[in-house]
Amino acid sequence: MAQSNNSIKKILTVAFALCIVCSVIVSTAAVALRPKQQLNQELDRKTNILSVANLYEPGMDVEEAFSEVTPRVVDMRTGEYTDELDPETFDHFQAARDPAMGRTLSGDRDIAGLSRVENFATVYLVGDAEDPDQIILPIRGQGLWGLMRGFMSVEGDGNTIVGITYYEHSETPGLGAEVNNPRWQAQWEGKKIFADGEDLTPAIHLTKGGADDETEIDALSGATLTSNGVTNMLQFWLSPEGFGTYLARFRSEVDREEVQEADVELEAEA
Ligand SMILES: Cc1cc2nc3c(=O)[nH]c(=O)nc-3n(C[C@H](O)[C@H](O)[C@H](O)COP(=O)(O)O)c2cc1C
Repeated sequence: MAQSNNSIKKILTVAFALCIVCSVIVSTAAVALRPKQQLNQELDRKTNILSVANLYEPGMDVEEAFSEVTPRVVDMRTGEYTDELDPETFDHFQAARDPAMGRTLSGDRDIAGLSRVENFATVYLVGDAEDPDQIILPIRGQGLWGLMRGFMSVEGDGNTIVGITYYEHSETPGLGAEVNNPRWQAQWEGKKIFADGEDLTPAIHLTKGGADDETEIDALSGATLTSNGVTNMLQFWLSPEGFGTYLARFRSEVDREEVQEADVELEAEA
């Protein structure tokens, strides 16, 4: 006798077959779309880099514009470039986890809330790579709700800011997410990282109620915790723990001995 369409066996067989068909479709789509996703991620990264350098215009050929940008890997401990790592394939986040390429941070040294940090980083140079017009640095640190990742662009003097942007964060729209509001971002242009360009400790910070100094930026209103996160990550990445030693190469007025002393201190603490 033929089984009724409502029999448990038939229902389970149809449900199982449907699951198999759906999982095959989803896995095939995931595998087939992966190269496209990677291409889009790459395009997004390049768009963000051009955008923070004020070089992006809607509708432009991003790949062509990016040919003006030279990526280089920097050893942040010495401030020197290294050719041993390929900037096209170097992965900061993986390097931070690698005991040979990163280090653990704790206590007062971990102001950006990263726990571990890589010793190498890819920077992007705009114009002549030997004497760049702009240096674009990757930055990251904890906001209120999670890790914020972005870029800061600095003029070739290693001190004057061009802009800042975040390509990944989980801050609240209208509050912490205002970090990507063009009106808030506009105030960064021309601000200085270091007071009088003479110290290795970055002075740039967000402040509540009126930024009236060249190293001050108006904090985000109603988002003090995100603002503190931005200040902390800049204080970290622009100090000798991050790009401080590298940036000092561009700042002729910085006393070389001061840079070396900071490096020695860093090595002693590590
Ligand atoms: C639902 C919700 C989302 C919030 N999102 C943020 C945020 O993204 N960034 C932030 O700094 N504060 C956020 N806050 C506010 C903080 O809890 C805190 O009140 C604020 O940072 C204080 O900033 P103020 O001193 O400028 O008012 C949020 C609060 C609520 C209730």
